[in-house]
Amino acid sequence: MIDWLAVARAIHVLSIVHWIGGLLFVTFVILPSLRELEPRLRVEMFEKLERRFAIQARVSVLLAGVSGFYMLDAFGHWSRIADPRFWWLGAMIALWAIFTIMLFVAEPLFLHAWFGRRAALDPDGTFRVALRGHRVLSILAAITVMGATAGAHGLF
Ligand code: HEM
Repeated sequence: MIDWLAVARAIHVLSIVHWIGGLLFVTFVILPSLRELEPRLRVEMFEKLERRFAIQARVSVLLAGVSGFYMLDAFGHWSRIADPRFWWLGAMIALWAIFTIMLFVAEPLFLHAWFGRRAALDPDGTFRVALRGHRVLSILAAITVMGATAGAHGLF
């Protein structure tokens, strides 16, 4: 018989590897490399790369959410969301909610247009804002991955 919980866990981890790994690569490799370019070209390149990754990240965020909620339900662990000992569960759901809102609501509705308008006026400042935002999200994501792995295997 197929162990669907194990399948869900495998899908969950793969989607996290793709989504969070991609985020860290953009933050700590792509963005610092773009610094060498002239400000207007830098913002243009950033938008192109980010748009391509955002399409893939939407799939990973969706799979991470479906597999995560499936596991939560199968384990019968819904009440743990409100338990501070399982802070890492709340952290996973909060990070997922931030990205879901950004990728599926804010970006298509207004974030993309706002970024374009701001970049046309101040490409250097806009790039700095983007870099700072990526750094904050990357640090939160790294803490969440560590907390979730340690927590799922009984550290807390
Ligand atoms: C809707 C959002 C999410 C839900 C409902 C969810 C739920 C879960 C559940 C129920 C587990 C199994 C815990 C256990 O074995 O006791 C788990 C494991 C895990 N999750 Fe999530 N998760 C979500 C999003 C995320 C995010 C955003 C990340 C990373 C930033 C993440 C990373 C992990 C990791 C690393 C594990 C441990 C896998 C292992 O070592 O077995 N999850 N998640």
